[in-house]
Amino acid sequence: MEKTLVLIKPDGVARGLCGEIISRFERRGLRILALKMMTLSREQAYNHYAEHQGKPFFDGLIDFITSGPLVAMVVGGENAIKVVRTMMGPTDPAGAAPGTIRGDFALSVDNNVIHGSDSASSAMREIDLFFAAHEIMK
Ligand code: TYD
Ligand code: MG
Repeated sequence: MEKTLVLIKPDGVARGLCGEIISRFERRGLRILALKMMTLSREQAYNHYAEHQGKPFFDGLIDFITSGPLVAMVVGGENAIKVVRTMMGPTDPAGAAPGTIRGDFALSVDNNVIHGSDSASSAMREIDLFFAAHEIMK
């Protein structure tokens, strides 16, 4: 089964959107294989967003993602990586269609509610950053 890492970012948790977002994945037929709430250290945030180091938005992104509790999940199912990205909508919510998570719940690229891994290699790397193997259901 394909697996992907999903984060409900601190804005989504603060706004009480966890149930709504988890429910969308379950209704789609995806499975929640692991789930925890945590506040990221700056070091964890740097590792998670390593590919963006040096970009103009990086410092703000680290401040934001460490600003409060987030919900981390492993979501599994057929084509889970692509299906989750499609359900999320594009990075900038201004261009996200209604019916997508960002299109329904976000306005701004720096408060865009949700993260989902963008490839199989990202998913493996990111799942390892957030979960030990024994925490992930089969
Ligand atoms: P990115 O990996 O490009 O987007 P996605 O979350 O859709 O995979 O960027 C990571 C996060 O960085 C993005 O969710 C929000 C933030 N970001 C900005 O704040 N400004 C930007 O111009 C970009 C590209 C991203
Ligand atoms: Mg990304």
